[in-house]
Amino acid sequence: MNIINREIFFKIFGSGAIKGERSIYTGSDVEPLIAFSRTFHPKTVIEIGIQRGATAKCLLDNSPWIEKYIGIDVTPDYNTPLSIQQQEVPQIAGECVKDDSRVELIIKPNGSRDLTSADLTAADLIFIDGDHSLNGVLLDTQLARQVIRKGGIICWHDYGNELVPSVSEAIDSLNEKENDQICLIENGYLCFQFCREGR
Ligand SMILES: C[S@@+](CC[C@H](N)C(=O)[O-])C[C@H]1O[C@@H](n2cnc3c(N)ncnc32)[C@H](O)[C@@H]1O
Repeated sequence: MNIINREIFFKIFGSGAIKGERSIYTGSDVEPLIAFSRTFHPKTVIEIGIQRGATAKCLLDNSPWIEKYIGIDVTPDYNTPLSIQQQEVPQIAGECVKDDSRVELIIKPNGSRDLTSADLTAADLIFIDGDHSLNGVLLDTQLARQVIRKGGIICWHDYGNELVPSVSEAIDSLNEKENDQICLIENGYLCFQFCREGR
């Protein structure tokens, strides 16, 4: 796994400083997402696992150039493959961003597992933060890679989080096969990849 020093990351990609509240889920890991957004001005963003939309709100409030933000989640009766994730399932997915006209919510009984690439538009930035099981991360990665634009960025949350070790397992297995294309930002749980191939 390649690891980029956090300070160097922000020197390269600019500030991730934000106004407004952060998500309890991403905490300071929203800052690299904001830095990417400020540097690359994504027009279309997809978040797999939008939950109540706290990270989405942060990104949207700090990124006037975003034209479309697609948030994907499950219906409240969903049983998560990892029991530790059950309490994350929101009653009202995306409720923090429901009044932002740029937001499109896709809420399905099995979330991203009910989608194919044909259901999504090409995106410049994709944030994977949904099902943290091994299979879940691998399936979401596959879906994201089918819809990312050439030169776009895919980010994954919770690499190195000991509460959900299957995220690291999934990313390590991808990196092993693919020559370490996914890079971790030091002192956090956020990984990213610049995609040479895409729509
Ligand atoms: C850690 S929370 C996401 C936090 C959110 N990204 C944020 O930063 O505020 C995980 C979310 O993934 C959702 N989820 C679980 N399985 C999913 C799936 N297959 N497809 C989409 N979302 C899923 C859960 O319902 C929950 O809202």
